[in-house]
Amino acid sequence: MKLKRVLKWSARAILLSLILAFLVGFIAYWRSTNDCDRDTGAPANPMKAIVHCEYGSPDVLTLVNVEKPTPADKQVLVRVRAASVNPLDLTIRGPWLIRPILGMRKPKDTRLGVDYAGTVEAVGKNPAAAGQFKPGDEVFGAKNGALAEYVCVLADRAVVLKPANMTFEQAASVPVAAITALQGLRDKGKIQPGQKVLINGASGGVGTFAVQIAKSFGTEVTGVCSTRNVDLVRSIGADHVIDYTKEDFTKTDQRYDLIFDLVGNHSFSERRRILNPTGICVMAGIGGAGWHDGIGTRLAGELKAYVASRFVSEKFITYIATLNKADLQILGDLMQAGKVTPVIDRTYKLNETADALRYLEQGHARGKVVITVE
Ligand SMILES: NC(=O)c1ccc[n+]([C@@H]2O[C@H](COP(=O)([O-])OP(=O)(O)OC[C@H]3O[C@@H](n4cnc5c(N)ncnc54)[C@H](OP(=O)(O)O)[C@@H]3O)[C@@H](O)[C@H]2O)c1
Repeated sequence: MKLKRVLKWSARAILLSLILAFLVGFIAYWRSTNDCDRDTGAPANPMKAIVHCEYGSPDVLTLVNVEKPTPADKQVLVRVRAASVNPLDLTIRGPWLIRPILGMRKPKDTRLGVDYAGTVEAVGKNPAAAGQFKPGDEVFGAKNGALAEYVCVLADRAVVLKPANMTFEQAASVPVAAITALQGLRDKGKIQPGQKVLINGASGGVGTFAVQIAKSFGTEVTGVCSTRNVDLVRSIGADHVIDYTKEDFTKTDQRYDLIFDLVGNHSFSERRRILNPTGICVMAGIGGAGWHDGIGTRLAGELKAYVASRFVSEKFITYIATLNKADLQILGDLMQAGKVTPVIDRTYKLNETADALRYLEQGHARGKVVITVE
């Protein structure tokens, strides 16, 4: 009798919670709004920027006039010369899983892009607060809304001087992709000289940095890519290349200390089989390259691998890269020393950003896709 009552009340409580959750979601959905809904009139001091008022395919992107930012104390105003696009920008499609963060019905932040390189045009009223930066400096960094003519950035955040031997296009291709590679290999993968490292997805934006960064740590690198990218991956330093159209890397006799996986198209047991007993698999590729139906399945597979690895000696780790000044400086130094050279696949103009994203979402970019800003 007592058990029956407990079950009845539990069912009621669950039903009530579900109704409440639905109501909260429904209200959040209809209340969600963005700048596009507020008519603020023509900007007094305009600049061009890429904007998306709605979720959808790259067709929703428009190049419009917005207010040019003014640097506050501790900020610098950068005239953007080049930017680059990342799978992160494909969130314009508004995946439901992350809409509670992005905005339920419409994107809260209508601006797009993160990676940029450009010239410091001005600093805030107190030049001493702008740190090392002064007008005319060439810099690169990460800031939301970078697909625009200008960005205003805090001097102590992810912005550093551009190495003189790098073009703006090369420097703009670095922040998100190279920091993801650096933090995945160094912090999560605990990479050590002499280790055997496998990089799945070696020819893409993150992968081309990962191959070079792994080599800079003195490791033996195997890159996995398709036939047309074999020469590219070898040319950036991979010791061995596996063509995934001809060979399954999980079916060889080779064992690795570290797998840096940007694709996530193999199960936990397949990848575990080729790891040494103390090996680490860093699952960086949240759903794999491009926009495809299998993203959900791959994400679920990575979650399963993470949980399963709690019970074995091999580690399976996932993470989200954090953009910061110290790591950008390390990457700038590696580029200055010629140890890392960005691979640029295609270059588009700012008004062609939608084409750039259409290309990126096919999932077959060879290195980075860059946007030039005139
Ligand atoms: N954890 C984080 O913080 C973080 C940060 C940035 C990116 N990411 C994730 O990392 C992944 C890679 O990003 P990205 O910028 O490198 O993407 P990307 O540039 O679009 O990657 C494209 C590359 O993926 C390769 N590829 C596609 N299918 C493959 C397969 N089955 N096996 C091996 N390679 C394959 C393609 O080579 P082929 O043309 O030869 O197939 C192409 O060169 C994405 O899922 C992204 O969301 C995660």
